[in-house]
Amino acid sequence: MKPSSASVLLLAPLVAAFPAWVADAASDPLIAARAEDLLKRQKGADSATALFEAAPVFHAEAQYIDVGPGSGHEWKAPGPGDLRGPCPGLNAFANHGFLPRNGYATVGQFIDVTGRVVGMGTLVSTVLATLGATLDGNGAKWWPVSAIGGTPPRSIAPLGLGGNGISGSHNKYEADASPTRPDLYQAGNNYQTQVDQFQQLIDASPGGYVTMDTITSFRSKRFDTQKSTNPYFFNGPFTGLFAQPAAYNFIFRFMANHSAEAPVGELSYDVLKSWFAISGESGSYSVQQGHERIPHNWYRRALEYPYSVEYFLGDLLATARLHPKFLDVGGNQGQVDSFTGVDISDLTGGVFHATSLLEGDNLACFAAQLAT
Ligand code: HEM
Ligand SMILES: *[C@@H]1O[C@H](CO)[C@@H](O)[C@H](O)[C@H]1NC(C)=O
Repeated sequence: MKPSSASVLLLAPLVAAFPAWVADAASDPLIAARAEDLLKRQKGADSATALFEAAPVFHAEAQYIDVGPGSGHEWKAPGPGDLRGPCPGLNAFANHGFLPRNGYATVGQFIDVTGRVVGMGTLVSTVLATLGATLDGNGAKWWPVSAIGGTPPRSIAPLGLGGNGISGSHNKYEADASPTRPDLYQAGNNYQTQVDQFQQLIDASPGGYVTMDTITSFRSKRFDTQKSTNPYFFNGPFTGLFAQPAAYNFIFRFMANHSAEAPVGELSYDVLKSWFAISGESGSYSVQQGHERIPHNWYRRALEYPYSVEYFLGDLLATARLHPKFLDVGGNQGQVDSFTGVDISDLTGGVFHATSLLEGDNLACFAAQLAT
């Protein structure tokens, strides 16, 4: 099997649900060409930057996200009926009224807001938001309202199709080894920010700034820690291979501040703390759950290069090349340190082996096979 494009990697799990438009997007030759180009120029966790932001631009006015007084997007703490979930980005959007403050939004709102506020590519947000509505919408094939967390009340989901929201989707959408969220089995919840995990990210990022490289070493540690402490650690084909890189790489790609001096972004501890609702200083951080906020004076990525499917795949492959274990599909067997990989050559009738996944289009082919 030879899919024409590496973007099949992201899209394949959805092929069954959305055949026509997904197949079209996945066969875009430009996406394939760029991904191949990237594979030839590997450097570090941030190697995709050179490919997609080769000629960095910064336009202060266009990139400024005004959340100051009078902007209409002032920060407000969520009220008693407002739901927040495991995603700091969506929580912050709701706290600023970019998304409805109650925490329920349509697929269209997710797409519009993630594009305008942080520069997420339309296809990426369409996939994420549609997955949210589908996987977490109680099996409804197309459910336009998705909850950031919790179960929508009757008034919002009058047909009773609301499902569990994003935080109720463990191992469908919500993954083990998240950056700051705990594992469901270990903590009894999968959405509360763990200050010690935030501290580990800071510790992995000396010098006041968090980068793609430091985020990736932190991810590698989290991955190992899960194997050695969580008897039920599971790195699933979707949650492990796709949701996990999103959760890590989004931290830099969407939360970094942009400027003329740093057009591809710079993520200081302070900016990160704001997005994650953390206060205090390193060593004595504390968290106010659900109080995520977009920093004042913050500039998003340039829309000249939105965070598109090919960029997402570029980051996914670059980080997996540094740590091939990220691609190990499998889990612990009820005991710590008992990680057993699904033999990919079994899943694929002997066509692929774990080590060959990183070659060329093989990972994409594997993803396409998983879907079928
Ligand atoms: C349609 C848009 C989006 C959807 C449906 C979505 C959904 C999710 C879900 C389900 C998780 C939990 C995954 C896990 O278990 O780790 C998550 C985590 C995360 N999301 Fe989003 N997200 C979206 C947009 C964004 C944006 C725009 C940002 C950044 C501004 C963002 C940043 C993050 C981060 C950093 C995590 C990991 C949280 C942690 O464990 O520390 N997401 N998101
Ligand atoms: C973003 O960068 C600009 C330029 O350096 C700076 O003026 C602004 O304060 C920064 N914003 C944040 C939230 O750090």
